[in-house]
Amino acid sequence: MPHIHPKTTPIYQTSVFAFEDLNALELYFSEPGQSYMYTRYGNPNADELAQEVNKLEKGIGAVVTSSGMSAILAAILAVCKAGDHVLYAEEIYGGSSSLLVQELTRMGLDVSAVPTADTYNLQAHVKPNTCMMLAETMSNPLLLVLDIKQLAQQTKQHNLKLVIDNTFASPILTQPLLLGADIVIHSVTKYLSGHSDVTAGVVVSAQPEDLKRVKQVMMVYGLNLSPFESWLAARGLKTLRVRMRQHCSNALTVARYLAQHPKVEKVWYPGLEQHPQHELAREQGQGLFGGMLSFKIKDDTAAVNALMQALEHIPFAPSLAGVTTSLSYPVGTSHRSLSEAQRQKIGITAGVIRLSVGIEEPEELLADLEQALAAV
Ligand SMILES: Cc1ncc(COP(=O)(O)O)c(C=O)c1O
Repeated sequence: MPHIHPKTTPIYQTSVFAFEDLNALELYFSEPGQSYMYTRYGNPNADELAQEVNKLEKGIGAVVTSSGMSAILAAILAVCKAGDHVLYAEEIYGGSSSLLVQELTRMGLDVSAVPTADTYNLQAHVKPNTCMMLAETMSNPLLLVLDIKQLAQQTKQHNLKLVIDNTFASPILTQPLLLGADIVIHSVTKYLSGHSDVTAGVVVSAQPEDLKRVKQVMMVYGLNLSPFESWLAARGLKTLRVRMRQHCSNALTVARYLAQHPKVEKVWYPGLEQHPQHELAREQGQGLFGGMLSFKIKDDTAAVNALMQALEHIPFAPSLAGVTTSLSYPVGTSHRSLSEAQRQKIGITAGVIRLSVGIEEPEELLADLEQALAAV
């Protein structure tokens, strides 16, 4: 074979690696990270993705996983054990609260939600066995912006690990570990991979002992990401910075347009001056406000359906952060597992639509929204 120097990393689509002899096996165990044995434990494509995300998040190391959900699971299992108590912000992705409330309670975890009003005053919620708190930089779906520094002061005071889901913001806006978080997780499915063609997750740590535990959990629970998915995500990640700039610029344009539309009752976007955490969002997001927004038309599913049916270029697709714009419906998808009362309390009502603004020419988006809102 001639010497081959590919410019990009090849796909190591193999489940296992061969050893020359027992000496090579011993070398593998004595120099971790220098060679590979079994893809569930480690693979060059997964490691490349982990290293690139780690650089962006300014961690001491990262582990990639098969989905955002398995990243959250790995983070929780890394720092908590049966009998411990976990706090989570009331306003988070419905899948994350389901994992805690419906599943991990069966395994002996005690969990409770922190009401939004108490986010920076955990005293009344912390118990002697509380081990961690889970919250999102920008909440799904109503874009509540978390003051990570202030929350980290609280969690440090109570000796809890702070786990931040940075999926909506991306490290281009916010690097939670630099603000005091202990662990960052992402649904890599979203902005980091960016093209709606991968399901993946990542856990980034600030401390070596957490990283070691996350690796152990990933390997033993079998939460690894496949080589091809890792490769796709690493490929998408290369354009994250330029994509995010366009997502943010387009989202601001669309948010301003929707905010003045007579059929739109409310817009949640941190880039609008009227957003309650606008200044915090500016500071914590380096002047960028993200590509996600939610808006509310009248609380009537027939009106929501009319809008969806009239849109020509914006599909109803219950995910987010792809290069093309899509919308989702929190009552029916991401927050379906919540009770009606829980949704009402947060403000997720029948007319709330979540928009993931893509990187198209903004005029195309405004034209599509204009003609579809006319049909409502
Ligand atoms: C904020 C947030 N975190 C985590 C997840 C879960 O990620 P995945 O679908 O990749 O498992 C999602 C999915 O929508 C999400 O929106």
